[in-house]
Amino acid sequence: MKKSVRLSKDVLPVRYAITLKPDLEAFTFSGEEQIRIILKKPVKKITLHSAELEILSAELATGKKSSPAKVSYADKDETATLSFESEIPKGKATLRISFAGILNDKMRGFYRSRYEHNGKTEHMAVTQFESTDARRAFPCFDEPAQKAIFDVSLIIPKDRTAISNTVETEVAEHEGGYKVVKFAPSPQMSSYLVAFIIGHFEHIEKKTKRGVLVRVFCTPGKKHQSAFALECAVKCIEFYEKYFGIRYPLPVMDLIAIPDFAAGAMENWGAVTYRETAVLVDPVHSSTANKQRVALVIAHELAHQWFGNLVTMEWWTHLWLNEGFATYMEYVAIDDVFPQWNIWNHFVYAEHSRALSLDGLANTHAIEIDVGHPSEISEIFDAVSYSKGASVIRMLAGHLGEKAFRAGLQHYLKKHEYGNASTVDLWNAFEKASGRRVAVMMRDWTREPGYPLVSMTETPHGIQLTQQRYFGNGAKSTKTIWSIPLSISSGGTTKKILLDNKKAGVDVKAGALKVNRGETSLVRIRYSAQNLQLLTRAIAKMGDGLPEADPSRSTLAEADRFGIVRDAYALAESGHLHTDEYLRLLPAYKNEDAFIVWGQICEQLHRLNNLYFGTDVAEPFRKFGRSVLQIIVKEIAWKKRKGESEEQALLRSVVLFASGSLGDIRVIQDAQEMFAKVMSGHAALEPDLRGVVYNLVAQNGGKKEFDSLMMLYKKATLEEEKDRLMRALCSFKDPAILQGMLDFAFSKEARGQDTLKAVNFVWSNPYGRNVAWKHLTKHWGAIVERFGGGHLFSRFLLPAASEVSVKRAQEIEKFFHAHPSDGLARTIALATEQIRSNASWLARDKKKAQAFLKSIS
Ligand code: BES
Ligand code: ZN
Repeated sequence: MKKSVRLSKDVLPVRYAITLKPDLEAFTFSGEEQIRIILKKPVKKITLHSAELEILSAELATGKKSSPAKVSYADKDETATLSFESEIPKGKATLRISFAGILNDKMRGFYRSRYEHNGKTEHMAVTQFESTDARRAFPCFDEPAQKAIFDVSLIIPKDRTAISNTVETEVAEHEGGYKVVKFAPSPQMSSYLVAFIIGHFEHIEKKTKRGVLVRVFCTPGKKHQSAFALECAVKCIEFYEKYFGIRYPLPVMDLIAIPDFAAGAMENWGAVTYRETAVLVDPVHSSTANKQRVALVIAHELAHQWFGNLVTMEWWTHLWLNEGFATYMEYVAIDDVFPQWNIWNHFVYAEHSRALSLDGLANTHAIEIDVGHPSEISEIFDAVSYSKGASVIRMLAGHLGEKAFRAGLQHYLKKHEYGNASTVDLWNAFEKASGRRVAVMMRDWTREPGYPLVSMTETPHGIQLTQQRYFGNGAKSTKTIWSIPLSISSGGTTKKILLDNKKAGVDVKAGALKVNRGETSLVRIRYSAQNLQLLTRAIAKMGDGLPEADPSRSTLAEADRFGIVRDAYALAESGHLHTDEYLRLLPAYKNEDAFIVWGQICEQLHRLNNLYFGTDVAEPFRKFGRSVLQIIVKEIAWKKRKGESEEQALLRSVVLFASGSLGDIRVIQDAQEMFAKVMSGHAALEPDLRGVVYNLVAQNGGKKEFDSLMMLYKKATLEEEKDRLMRALCSFKDPAILQGMLDFAFSKEARGQDTLKAVNFVWSNPYGRNVAWKHLTKHWGAIVERFGGGHLFSRFLLPAASEVSVKRAQEIEKFFHAHPSDGLARTIALATEQIRSNASWLARDKKKAQAFLKSIS
């Protein structure tokens, strides 16, 4: 049994009045607060959260009486206990606490972020509280279920702007060049959603049709990059008010771009903070991919204003309710705001398939998971909570139908508004709205780890479907039997079933059957050899000038073509299919034109290129990969066509980059020429092509190219551009260059978030594996010091998963055995499992792949 970390339910906060005064030069702050509480029982002690704060004085007032408190700290528990001389009777009371702390540089709690203003380096003070870091800014009852009202006042230098959850109500003079800014009371809410930000800002604003004021704030000089976010936010709020049937309850919604930021964005009620790249879009220099990402991030955080802020998970075990739902809603909203983007196809590409990858590992976890210590909570902000969560919701939405689904949601939000809920509350709401059994069907999807592999075989009367848990490393288990809604399509007709047994016979006519039509359920499919052949043929026929009326074609939508190749690869990886059978499928996609399908194939080619790196199959494989891409590369070419869709632009960068990375000389030379023109000042590069060009130049370049790219990096002011260049700078082959990049990323010059990026990029570059691992071990102490226990910590180890040698897996285990680190256990297990799985795939099937590659050359 885990040790309980929950606070006593005998002391409940009702309302906080907090005054904070940051010192933006000394990087400290002082604060005072009054917390109105209710004592359910007489107490002599009160324990609340406090971390890295010095409590200067504390007392409790009841009626006219005031009792001073003695303070003791439990550092490991991140709590402070206030002890009183005599027992305090039950009923109302007010805690008065004054305290002091540091504005840290760890991007958590109350921290500082650096920016330039009028040629000077300045610092802003900013908060990031989720999951458990409000306790680093003020002593509080820092649990999601301890909701209260927050009255915030900030004492700040006169020339700065202060932003918090609600609107400013009063600004008063204060001594020493300071002013006091008071904010309207917040709604009843959880402590992790409180925010305050103090610095120099520019902003733009607009009102929604109903009159909610929406503002986008950024550091000076970046205002021209905020228009897209403003438009997008206004539209999303209008959409959600309609969709959820509940008004956004605050008069203002601020979006703030923060230069140093650990996550991508944070949904603080009324004051959403963003990493710059997740909210700023430059009209001239931003890529299509980034613009779409910004829209999705905004839609995500705004969905949280209802799902998460208005109704909050009871405890972190139900984190997925927040994150899975917000992830699902991103797509619902963006499909409404930008219908031309076909964003649901991206869902299948980005979320559904990410869920299948992580959740295919033995060391995954169930969506609902017991968590206690803060470091365990950080580790579950992962693809299971986000992508699997979103995928099972989409599966349920499809099963219940749009109307019942939405009614269920509205019912849930209304019933629990300003309160907390857990997973069963959501199922209950859907049951009420639909009259169907939801809790039973959904149980194993959220309570058990993993998901099913459904195998299909032909029988005399149709087909038989069998389920077992899918494991990426080929392990077997039939313990869990999921309830799987499945559509099976063939020749334009679709049959729907609920597979809730180990096996079921389905009465359908044989012939190019696509199981799990539209990839709506969270499963992989293993087809009979015969059916896979029929599907392959149907795919290959596409674009061959065959009549549109060809039934096998009309049933294979983008998502279906995508699913077939995604699963074939996974089945080869897990040993259910021989690798040569998977490779044989690829040429059938020669006439494919969908971005998501090519995106998937390119990712697979990239992974295999990584798997075969340094072996004798490497070259034949690269040649094969280029041949798979040949037609589409030629067709799409470098030049944007007038009026082309966003999909085309995305497709272009994905296939050109893949082909170039596999050694396509033509593409590489084109990239080098374009780069030369840019460097000599003769041409500017179109933003969608910059990543491709920079990376290919780096992959094939040396010192000279490095210097050029570094110069561009230093000159760039747009963070998105800096990110592109950073990735390229970590794509060189020369270990000395890569080492230099890591040194740079660990220096004072780089931002904290960039440190992780460099490790990530260098480690996933096969030439950088040893450099990255050595650097990580050498600087482990510094990483723990700066990132330990934080949101980014475990991500330092995740890129190890692309390694292929068992020896490296052992080294990792040995190292962390000698350097035990809280909050890393799951990541170590996941990464080493993936490494071993890679190694065994290579050993198992390399010969087969080799024979196939030889046979076609
Ligand atoms: N609530 C999270 C922010 C967060 C993440 C806080 C991890 C603490 C730890 C926010 O809503 C979020 O999910 N942000 C994502 C971006 C989103 C669009 C998927 C992120 O930061 O990656
Ligand atoms: Zn979120």
